[in-house]
Parts: sequence; C-alpha cells; structure tokens
Amino acid sequence: MAIKKGLFKTSVGRKNLMAVTGLFIIFFLIIHLVGNLILIIPDSFFPIEFWGNVANQHDMYNAYSHFLVHFWPITIVAWVLYAAIALHIVDALLITLNNWKAKGEKYAVTDNSTSTWISRNMGILGTVIGVFIVLHMAQFWLQYKVLKVEHDLYNLVIETFKVWWMVVIYEIGIIALGFHIVHGIESAHRSLGIYPKKAMNIIKYIALFFGLFMAILYAIIPIILYFK
Ligand code: HEM
Repeated sequence: MAIKKGLFKTSVGRKNLMAVTGLFIIFFLIIHLVGNLILIIPDSFFPIEFWGNVANQHDMYNAYSHFLVHFWPITIVAWVLYAAIALHIVDALLITLNNWKAKGEKYAVTDNSTSTWISRNMGILGTVIGVFIVLHMAQFWLQYKVLKVEHDLYNLVIETFKVWWMVVIYEIGIIALGFHIVHGIESAHRSLGIYPKKAMNIIKYIALFFGLFMAILYAIIPIILYFK
C-alpha cells in the first residue's frame, strides 16, 4: 500500500517510475535496433560457410524474428516491455495532469529559463511517438505475432518501406523519439539521483550523443529500404 502510494501518488514516486520504465524501454530499443539493422546489411556479409544455413539477409531477418517469437524467455521480456510502455504512458498522463493543476494555482511559478524546448514539449513528443507506436504495432506486431496472418516478416517490412509516405511517417516518429530519448535519459538520471550534481553535465552530453546516434541509425533503415 505504501509502495503504491509512493509510486503513483507522490511526485517523486511518479518520476522514479517514469525513469525506470523509460530506461527499460531504451534497453529494448537498443536490442530492437540491432535486430533491425540486419535489414540494411548487404547480402555479401552473409557467407554461407560462416552463418551455416543462413545464406542471406532475408533468411537472417526471418530467423531472428522467429527466434523472438519462439524463445520463451524473450516472451517474458516482451510482456515486461508491454507493462513498462503502459506504465510509462499512464505515468506521463498523471504527471501532465498534475502540472496543469499546478499551473492553475496562482502561486505556481513557470520557470522557462531552466527548461529546454524539449522538456517543455515532452507531452507533444510523447503523443507523436504514441501515435507512431500504435501504427507500428498494427503493421508488424499485430500481423506477425498476434494474428499470425503474415509469416514472412522480412517481406512485410520491405513492402512497407516501398511506400514513400510510410517512410515519412517513420521519419517523423523517429525524430520525435530521438528528442524524447535525449531529454528522457537526462531527467531519468536526475530523478533517480544516482550521480553527484557535477556529473549531470556529462550525462547531458551522453544523452545528446546517444539520442542522436539512435535516431540516425533508426532513421536510415526506412530510407535505405525505400531506395533499395
Ligand atoms: C525503422 C525502424 C523499425 C523497424 C524496421 C521495426 C520493425 C519492427 C518489427 C518487424 C516488429 C515486429 C516483430 C518484433 O516483435 O520484433 C516490431 C515490433 C515492435 N517495435 Fe519496431 N521497428 C522499428 C522502429 C521502432 C521504433 C522507433 C520503436 C519505438 C518507438 C519500435 C517499437 C516496437 C515495439 C514496442 C514492438 C513490439 C515488440 C515485441 O512485441 O517484442 N520500433 N518492430
């Protein structure tokens, strides 16, 4: 009961929950990126003698996705991920509602001098990512993992990125994700208070570099596949 009150009812609890779920989602995004980079590795990288019977990019990508669905420990991690995403969204809504309430009170002070453009627009960025995730899950996850109507995930992904406006939607979602990651990493470390204040400057640069790095690598996948 005390933990529940601490997590959802206090501002510190809500921020800590946001930080922990956010960091877990980032961990997933790193693995997800590595898996999807297979899509842009040239076939010449898959010599048959080295990879056994995995002879090309098509087989490698489908072998990877088959493994994700049929290896039970990954299924457990996937459920933890869905729970983390749901908690992250509910928590974000609670924090936003609370901020609105605080702004309505006459003694509440809006200090724009210390907040960056990203931190003031986390709500908008989060909403763009939310819409993107719904579309993304409906396209791939629902068809392949849930309804099981699509068995060749590689072909599904390749066909999707042959449509120019689909590439545009992905680029918008990925840019929003990049900004969200930069601010998210920084504020997660501040919320959890793991480091001394001085180290926060370094964390800021690490967050910026990491957010950019992730966004660029995700963003090049649809573009390369479109022109392939
Ligand atoms: C160009 C980049 C991307 C490609 C090609 C891609 C591809 C896929 C595919 C094929 C799936 C279904 C199979 C699976 O579960 O792994 C999937 C699932 C998923 N994707 Fe992506 N994705 C991309 C970017 C993203 C981004 C930027 C996000 C987050 C904002 C994201 C979040 C997810 C989530 C949460 C799932 C469900 C994971 C699960 O059930 O284990 N993806 N993606």
